[in-house]
Amino acid sequence: MNSQLSLHFSQSECSYPIFIGEKLLKHSHFIHYCQSLRKRGAIISDSQVAPLYGQELQMRLQFGHVETSLLVFEAGEKQKTRQTKEWLEDQLFEQGFGRDSFLIALGGGVVTDLSGFLASTYCRGIPLIMIPTSLLAMVDASIGGKTAVNVPYGKNMVGTLYHPSAIFMDTSTLKTLSKEEFKNGVVEAIKHGLILDASYFAFLEQHAQNILNLEMSYVERLIYESCLIKRSIVEEDEQEKGKRRTLNFGHTLGHAIELLTDYQIPHGQAVAVGILGESYLSMQLGLLSSSSFERIRNIFKQYQIEIQNTFSLSPARVLNALQLDKKSVKNQPRFVLLKEIGTCTDCSGEFCSSVEQKVLEKALNWICRFLN
Ligand SMILES: NC(=O)c1ccc[n+]([C@@H]2O[C@H](COP(=O)([O-])OP(=O)(O)OC[C@H]3O[C@@H](n4cnc5c(N)ncnc54)[C@H](O)[C@@H]3O)[C@@H](O)[C@H]2O)c1
Ligand SMILES: [Zn+2]
Repeated sequence: MNSQLSLHFSQSECSYPIFIGEKLLKHSHFIHYCQSLRKRGAIISDSQVAPLYGQELQMRLQFGHVETSLLVFEAGEKQKTRQTKEWLEDQLFEQGFGRDSFLIALGGGVVTDLSGFLASTYCRGIPLIMIPTSLLAMVDASIGGKTAVNVPYGKNMVGTLYHPSAIFMDTSTLKTLSKEEFKNGVVEAIKHGLILDASYFAFLEQHAQNILNLEMSYVERLIYESCLIKRSIVEEDEQEKGKRRTLNFGHTLGHAIELLTDYQIPHGQAVAVGILGESYLSMQLGLLSSSSFERIRNIFKQYQIEIQNTFSLSPARVLNALQLDKKSVKNQPRFVLLKEIGTCTDCSGEFCSSVEQKVLEKALNWICRFLN
């Protein structure tokens, strides 16, 4: 089965297609799409993904009379910097790429974020095709137009809002992705079900084993449903003035944990703890039922996402780190809260809210005890 979705942003007056399916990159449709865009381009990839798919992609494009260079930087979040962007720009200039060329981002979220930023500023903007190859990039990073690099002052602090011409999600590429990286994507999918779609959450519960076994019809449905949810949220609120904040569910606490553990634990694991803590908070506030909370706790077990006994934290340090969150107002952290599985509280259009200190402390005590 192949699926196709289209994204439309009325504010930036742009729309583009997302193609999802197995072996998409081998289809003539992909080559035709590139041909119709430009005759010359550069594939941007990292040192892990390029040897797996880069050369083959180049060869296929060459058969279709699209000339490409393959530009590769070292894999990893550490490389998502202004310096890497500058190095890539220099390579493009030295090889004579101009306004008549295009970029292909081939890789995980680091590659799609960095290539998006590069494409948005190179010669004041050139077309970009995204080929996300990690589950996280498929269900999250490639959708919505946010591009970024990290700077010493913080993660994703310099970037643009820039949309690609098309996204091709070839699910076959997931076969080479490690289980741990795959689970990082699953956590974002669970988040999507929790914030907007109870039946999708139920699908994720029912088919955990099929998804973990990489049975493609289930994985494809996961990607499709998550894309639908992210699409509906970002189309409604491209500039993140309200509803887009719900995508931050689990991330307020998750980011604080990443900061305190010096980014040594996987993002998915930190966000899983964040989701659990913020769900507990929602339950303490009388919003979420205890049976729904138990389902949330259980789904992480179903996907074998390790949470307990992996690291320890003190509530006071977490509270300090929470104040640095970008949603904080006057040092008061604000949280996206769940009303039930599939629904967030809208908090008068803010979609996040501060909570009473006592309730927050209780939730932090619980989560820190739970971790040990
Ligand atoms: N722009 C957004 O809206 C948005 C949203 C969420 C996350 N992000 C960003 O995405 C990044 C995280 O993305 P990620 O988890 O994909 O990280 P990543 O790009 O570092 O990929 C994780 C690892 O998997 C490897 N990999 C990717 N695809 C592979 C494949 N098919 N086979 C084998 N190895 C493969 C990569 O080389 C890397 O080593 C972060 O920088 C985050 O800030 C952006
Ligand atoms: Zn995330």
